[in-house]
Amino acid sequence: MASVHKYKTISLIRPSESWSFSNLTQKDTNYLTHCYHRYPAKFIPQLARKLILENSKENEIICDPFYGSGSAILESILHNRIGYGTDINPIAYLITMAKTTPINSLKLQKEIESINYNLKHTDYDHDDYPPEKLSNWFDISTYNTLKNILIEIKKIKPQYVMFFFLCAFSHILKSSSYWNNGSVKPHKIKDKFLNKTNEPISRFFSHVKKMELRNQQFNLILPEKIKNNIDHYRQVQLGDIKNITSNNQCSLIVTSPPYVVSYEYRDIHSLSLNFLQDFFSNIPNHENFIGSSRRKTTPHKIFSDTASSIIEDLLVQDKNLSKTVSSYFLDMQDFFIKSNQLLKTNGRLAVVIGDTTLRGVSILNTQVFTEILTNLGFTKNQLIKRDIPFKSLPFTRDPETGRFVSSKSSSCIKSYSHEYIMIYCKN
Ligand SMILES: C[S@@+](CC[C@H](N)C(=O)[O-])C[C@H]1O[C@@H](n2cnc3c(N)ncnc32)[C@H](O)[C@@H]1O
Repeated sequence: MASVHKYKTISLIRPSESWSFSNLTQKDTNYLTHCYHRYPAKFIPQLARKLILENSKENEIICDPFYGSGSAILESILHNRIGYGTDINPIAYLITMAKTTPINSLKLQKEIESINYNLKHTDYDHDDYPPEKLSNWFDISTYNTLKNILIEIKKIKPQYVMFFFLCAFSHILKSSSYWNNGSVKPHKIKDKFLNKTNEPISRFFSHVKKMELRNQQFNLILPEKIKNNIDHYRQVQLGDIKNITSNNQCSLIVTSPPYVVSYEYRDIHSLSLNFLQDFFSNIPNHENFIGSSRRKTTPHKIFSDTASSIIEDLLVQDKNLSKTVSSYFLDMQDFFIKSNQLLKTNGRLAVVIGDTTLRGVSILNTQVFTEILTNLGFTKNQLIKRDIPFKSLPFTRDPETGRFVSSKSSSCIKSYSHEYIMIYCKN
């Protein structure tokens, strides 16, 4: 009963206008290298920036342990902080490295010209069938054209310049395939190219040119001392949060963690992961991703009464879903324990999270996180409610699967019209 009462207090908070960023256009949020690659549930960079500026000082370490497309890492280095973090998704690592590495403009221009020249003048002697995992998404000709682009990218040295081009390549895969552009789930549109030609090479160069311009602007804006010492200011790992080096040195953790049964990152990035598998030594499975419906975390004690009652309520509706949500809460609890080890004393933790409903049961993430953090000894600093004005953000869920859908169909249920920014302090 006590927790229900406390939750009412949370839900009654008025949304803060200064955190809604309702005036920003997509162009504003895609400024500088933030435009390099789409990513689901991406931070509004201005939100990450405001959290960073209000809760840390220059030269301090800012950590995002679920950095995704690296929005918070980029904002950290742009504002004279050290951006530190991890993500289990190799595509997240690729995007983040590309977005945060300034490249000499002349060097980049030379590489672009060289790829362009080689693609025009090389007689690539192969006409392969796409491997099974890609055959549903590309016809033979598109697959081979993409492979040729990849052959040229592979020649590029050093690695950080190659990453720039791999990022562009990964970004155009979806639009070059039969994958429904508007869908985060693997959904095929067979006649996608019925009335237009599919031109991966021009699509690739068009995006590379846009990125080239942004790299130039990034070079101009990034403080010289950071540019010359980028590996010190940007320290990102590819790996599971459980393996992140906990150094008790971070001043601020700023993150939007994964949501439960929403995005399957393994599926969303399957085209890139399958095409680029040679570049990564280890491709994680669905089960490795927190929030995945296939994840099974070994049961252990949860420090939240609200979490226990949500799991019980779900058990009546759907046993598997109850186990998945239980795994999610335990994973998030482990993340908060990890946060304690990452932060220095008086360091702050800023988590952006929303509540939702699954099978008619309210999944009160904010309340659950509040109870866990309090029980772990964190002190509340601020709880901010913000409206989500962006149409591009997920706001409906499929009632059957609980996954995010972009459709406005009446059978879908509203998921997030607002979210919370929880700021807690380590004692
Ligand atoms: C909501 S997204 C973060 C988006 C990010 N804020 C941005 O601006 O792009 C959550 C991220 O958590 C990552 N993730 C899921 N399970 C993880 C795990 N076990 N360890 C580390 N990262 C994980 C996913 O790969 C995903 O990139």
